[in-house]
Amino acid sequence: MVHLPLSKNLFEHTGEAMTGINQYMTSDHRHCDELFAATESAADNEDWETAATQTEIFLTAMENHFTKEEEVLFPVFEETTGMQQGPTQVMRHEHQQMRDLFSQLRYALEATDQDEFLSITETLLILMQQHNMKEEGILYSMSDEQFGDDTASTVLEKMQKIGD
Ligand SMILES: [Fe+2]
Ligand SMILES: [Fe+2]
Repeated sequence: MVHLPLSKNLFEHTGEAMTGINQYMTSDHRHCDELFAATESAADNEDWETAATQTEIFLTAMENHFTKEEEVLFPVFEETTGMQQGPTQVMRHEHQQMRDLFSQLRYALEATDQDEFLSITETLLILMQQHNMKEEGILYSMSDEQFGDDTASTVLEKMQKIGD
């Protein structure tokens, strides 16, 4: 299966400088994208042993990333901007949609069902690309704009502790 290059941050092409939180979290997205590509290509080659290993590595990275957002970044974003029901609620809902796909991915893996597996990864890819674009373009950049330096460095430090 041939895919277009994985999601690129639109702002990378406009030359807008990325700083702090946006830079850190965007590179986390790219890291997950790479792990996703390895997972998909193993399934593409019907190398189920590698697919199983890569899926677990990918899903662990995704869960760590979601934890950084749900437990560290989003609460501070909500408090700083006063937007409790805004972008963070949409993002939390999309995380849940992705988690549903993660479970389906594990079932397809167990059944070594290539068609099913690749159809789930296709849906997941679209969801991830749209989700990441919204975070990078709106949520992360607003965080960099609105958090003071001290808050930003505390948030970054806490997220880094969660690991990749
Ligand atoms: Fe997210
Ligand atoms: Fe994210």
